[in-house]
Amino acid sequence: MSNQTMDIAELISSRRTIHVFEPDKIPDKRIIKEAIATACWAPNHHLTEPWHFFMLGKETVADVCQLNKEMLIETKGIEKAEHKYKRWMEIPGWIVVTCQKSDDEVRYQEDYAACCCAIQNLMLILWQQGIGTKWSTGPVTFDERFYELVWINQELENIVGLIWYGYPADIPQTVRKPLQQVFTELP
Ligand SMILES: Cc1cc2nc3c(=O)[nH]c(=O)nc-3n(C[C@H](O)[C@H](O)[C@H](O)COP(=O)(O)O)c2cc1C
Repeated sequence: MSNQTMDIAELISSRRTIHVFEPDKIPDKRIIKEAIATACWAPNHHLTEPWHFFMLGKETVADVCQLNKEMLIETKGIEKAEHKYKRWMEIPGWIVVTCQKSDDEVRYQEDYAACCCAIQNLMLILWQQGIGTKWSTGPVTFDERFYELVWINQELENIVGLIWYGYPADIPQTVRKPLQQVFTELP
């Protein structure tokens, strides 16, 4: 294995989903924009380039946190809602990634796959520079009010993920199945 391959293997396997970020250390926007530009070299069938990246500013983040709080008050109660609101308001970086919709089911499936590749690229490029990410989806990202707050036309695009980013305050550990459980060699 060449050194370069070793580096990529190390980068991929060391990347972790980061749940807690340093609240006051905000990554430079230029790093994020450059990383997005590189991430777009992801494979995509028929060169559809189906992704779009939205970087959320303070006002939009505050609106999203408020929406999430309101939704959580309904389902989990005020205490949990306020706790989460405070945690979310401290997350330094917010990007929403969308995928163009398509009436053609196969095309949409392939476009969604391409967007996932682009997101993984983005997470790895940032990780290489010490910036952690968390790919998040949930009730708020599926809610039409969220689409409105982030200026996404739900008739044209689907949200693939909300990507939080920042410098990790903690790097968790996780596991993967051993290769023999996920790999079959055919004659
Ligand atoms: C489509 C998608 C949605 C995810 N949504 C969430 C989420 O809402 N909350 C969360 O804690 N992690 C979420 N994750 C991250 C996974 O939980 C995480 O990748 C998994 O636990 C493995 O950890 P690792 O990324 O550190 O290897 C999501 C990942 C993907 C690919």
